[in-house]
Amino acid sequence: MTNIFAIVLAAGQGTRMKSKLYKVLHPVCGKPMVQHVVDHVDTLNVERIVTVVGHGAEMVKEQLGAQSEYVLQAEQLGTAHAVQQAEPILGMLEGTTLVVCGDTPLIRPETMQALFEYHTAQNAKATILTAVAEDPTGYGRILRDASGNVAQIVEQKDATPEQQKVTEINTGTYCFDNKALFEALKLVKNDNAQGEYYLPDVIEILQKQGETVAAYVTDSFDETLGVNDRFALSQAEELMRARINERHMRNGVTIINPASTHISADAEIGADTIIQPGCIIEGKTIIGADCVIGPNSHIVNSTIGQATTIHSSVVLNSTVGDETAVGPFAHLRPQSSLGNHVKIGNFVEVKKSQLGNHTKVSHLSYIGDAEVGDNCNIGCGSITVNYDGKNKFKTIIENDVFVGCNSNLVAPVTLGEGSFIAAGSTVTSDVPADALAIGRAKQENKLNYVSNKLK
Ligand code: UD1
Ligand code: MG
Repeated sequence: MTNIFAIVLAAGQGTRMKSKLYKVLHPVCGKPMVQHVVDHVDTLNVERIVTVVGHGAEMVKEQLGAQSEYVLQAEQLGTAHAVQQAEPILGMLEGTTLVVCGDTPLIRPETMQALFEYHTAQNAKATILTAVAEDPTGYGRILRDASGNVAQIVEQKDATPEQQKVTEINTGTYCFDNKALFEALKLVKNDNAQGEYYLPDVIEILQKQGETVAAYVTDSFDETLGVNDRFALSQAEELMRARINERHMRNGVTIINPASTHISADAEIGADTIIQPGCIIEGKTIIGADCVIGPNSHIVNSTIGQATTIHSSVVLNSTVGDETAVGPFAHLRPQSSLGNHVKIGNFVEVKKSQLGNHTKVSHLSYIGDAEVGDNCNIGCGSITVNYDGKNKFKTIIENDVFVGCNSNLVAPVTLGEGSFIAAGSTVTSDVPADALAIGRAKQENKLNYVSNKLK
């Protein structure tokens, strides 16, 4: 088995994006493009992944972390120059090197694997992944000789009008014999329209040296989309979204309207869960089986159990148990966790709080910085008063507590197990277990007051 290495090109600024954010960090379905690329490469049997960083180097490194090694391309002199930066790490090694661009997030690992296998079977020194584009504008064109072999790649800006008619394009993904690659790179010149060192020139160099150069044509142009501007970014988003949604549907998830359902690349969803229109499911969200999500719910980096309903609600960095109901119009803010059989009703906000099994907060409440036990009932309009303008304080509500409507629980405060808070109470001190707390002005009725006043 030959060693496989990968070089990911991610040093460009991405001028055509017209953005403060470096191109390869622009997200597609919630994940930066370069992260898609590296995740795909990572599923192959590669020895080492080297990412070439330049613009936004620190941010790209922070994004990819230990998944890759890095080399710095201080000045962006072109894709050949970018690959050359990896020479100190890979130059001496025997093996096959896969080169991929950080702006082609849709190329699937299966396609890279097929490219590698074709390259090996052809015994080639270089194999390009090509595709036939309906509109090849902007891509390098594949020029073949009379016998159909690849002779050269010509960039859009260097191509003659005749060459621009060629619809077979360079996807920017290649397999090289590692040593041949670094030798050929030394011969690349920058005498072209952009004054750059082009990686595709390696193909012509090797071909002229009499080496075998091959092309593997993939039949899916969509996969090979290179994102250079915001329009292509929107196309990539649409294609990736369709791909992700299809994967979930094939795994048994019902998606009522895939066109309006946005699910991140890293989300997991169990079978027989129904995703209603307008949902946005972001980050590493895990949703169990038999749930109903939506319409218009927004769930970020959260874990949802089985047979749970999230109705028109926002759930951020939180955990929700099984057979629990959230919403409509509830807001679970970060670090909240709900047990099983919990009910969070309309206009309820929960922040950094734990709620035990079978607990209900059915209407119009704020629960912040609280630990709530099992079987509690928090009445309509009750809130934890967790903030004095400077500091946050905790409310502890033990098991089986009943909080009557419209109560203020002024933290720090503990409501003991089985206690009962009378409606309208402002609770400022701890309530012992099993006690009734009434913290409100005693009602006084002034008889005949209204009619007397009118006289
Ligand atoms: C490149 C190819 C083109 C191909 C297309 C596929 C070249 C010269 N052209 O064009 O044949 O059809 O990709 O999408 O290679 N980068 C660096 N350092 C540099 C320059 C670029 O790291 O000095 C990185 C960029 O961050 C990017 C990738 O290389 O991720 C490709 O560069 P880009 O400018 O997008 O090249 P294209 O014009 O798309
Ligand atoms: Mg590009």
